[in-house]
Amino acid sequence: MSSLDFSTKIGSRRFSNPIFTASGCASSGQELSQFFPISEIGAVVTKSIMTKPRTGRATPRMAETPSGMLNSIGLQGPGIDAFLENDIPWLLANSAKVIVSIAGETVDEYGVLARKLRAVSGVSAVEVNISCPNVENRGQVFACHPESAVAVIESVRRNIGGELPIVAKLSPDVTNIVEIAQSVINVGVDGLALINTLLGMVIDTNTMKPKLAGKTGGLSGPAIRPVAVRAIYQVHQAFPQTPIVGMGGVSNGRDAFEMVLAGASAVSVGTATFGNPSAAMQIKDELSNLLLEKGFNDFRDAIGFAHRGV
Ligand code: FUM
Repeated sequence: MSSLDFSTKIGSRRFSNPIFTASGCASSGQELSQFFPISEIGAVVTKSIMTKPRTGRATPRMAETPSGMLNSIGLQGPGIDAFLENDIPWLLANSAKVIVSIAGETVDEYGVLARKLRAVSGVSAVEVNISCPNVENRGQVFACHPESAVAVIESVRRNIGGELPIVAKLSPDVTNIVEIAQSVINVGVDGLALINTLLGMVIDTNTMKPKLAGKTGGLSGPAIRPVAVRAIYQVHQAFPQTPIVGMGGVSNGRDAFEMVLAGASAVSVGTATFGNPSAAMQIKDELSNLLLEKGFNDFRDAIGFAHRGV
């Protein structure tokens, strides 16, 4: 049986394998650790953390859709100080590789979060979530405009110091995702997370009202996978040197493989975890078997394979 080098890189950091959790779907990993050792996946990407504790949007804030779900959580969380005190030590004590996801209401808030992270050792990267669809106004979806996306990334870069890789999480709800990717690459991101959820809505035909208290929500799950694959493919084609963390409806190893072929250097598992808490581990094993079956001995040879000779 041949062996596989399953490792991958984002910026200066190496990960033992390319399967990560998706931000927001596994909190800080504690709940998942009753199902598998959290150190065995490539990285835990934590729920996007803000400067202050936050209760999020009113309920109901989840709704099922065909092949997917809508959420309007509204970035609930304990705030950066409690997160750094409780969650980071737990993750590091459990030998997890950690990518901290941050979200702000203003450009300055991202800078504050980056400055706090600067003092923390043991973190592998920061995911800058500039694409949450569940914010008070669409002007806060910084990833919808190159200028605001750049302002956030520059603020994070200024404040974070050192070599910590910065990964910008982009929204599919734009006309030209390559243009947004270009803008943040120009100001030095080390990687991109593609894609966040798509803005959607469900109306209950019995009550004749929106199902979500917040009216709109982010659509995730298998329904959005072709959108994610398209975004990854387009961005990898334009910027083959920029690592992409792919996500959006990955439920099995074959789905993850599809994203890798499109150009993803790592794949995050999100919505699938709600139905199957061991999904990330299973997908890791399935992807590894599939790579070997297809004749790959080095995971990195498969990244962007679908572009070759096309
Ligand atoms: O509402 C939320 O907490 C979702 C965040 C996101 O999709 O980035």
